[in-house]
Amino acid sequence: MTETMHEQRPFVWAPKFDTGVGDIDDQHHVLVNTLNEANLTLRHETSIPAIDRLLQDLLAYALYHFETEEHLMLEHDYEAHEPEAARQHIEDHRKFAQQVVIMRNTLGSTGDIDRDVLLSFLGSWLQQHILGVDQKLAAFLHKRGAAG
Ligand SMILES: [Fe+2]
Repeated sequence: MTETMHEQRPFVWAPKFDTGVGDIDDQHHVLVNTLNEANLTLRHETSIPAIDRLLQDLLAYALYHFETEEHLMLEHDYEAHEPEAARQHIEDHRKFAQQVVIMRNTLGSTGDIDRDVLLSFLGSWLQQHILGVDQKLAAFLHKRGAAG
């Protein structure tokens, strides 16, 4: 296991992450809490199956969350109104899922994972994603009077 783990700072929620869309915000809080728990767990967890389980759980919840957002997009014709934003957003979801699968495969085949790389990928992806495409979707939903 990688010996050089730096202390990753927890993801601290700030008002700029609030989208004002109830379901999306609730699920983002779960994702952030899961990420912060992963941060703590990875400091002492050395069992590969346990780390893989953690990645699997995170991916499962992320996929569930993506489904919620993509359902809102469909329901409110996001793609027809904002085709480029919709395309980018969905692509970002797919890339995240692919990346986590690649990390799980690497863990499975090498029995090791760079925890710093893993945690910083997860943290920075989530932050950029919320502040970028998620806020864009939320602004659209607010404009349509569809947020709650
Ligand atoms: Fe999203």
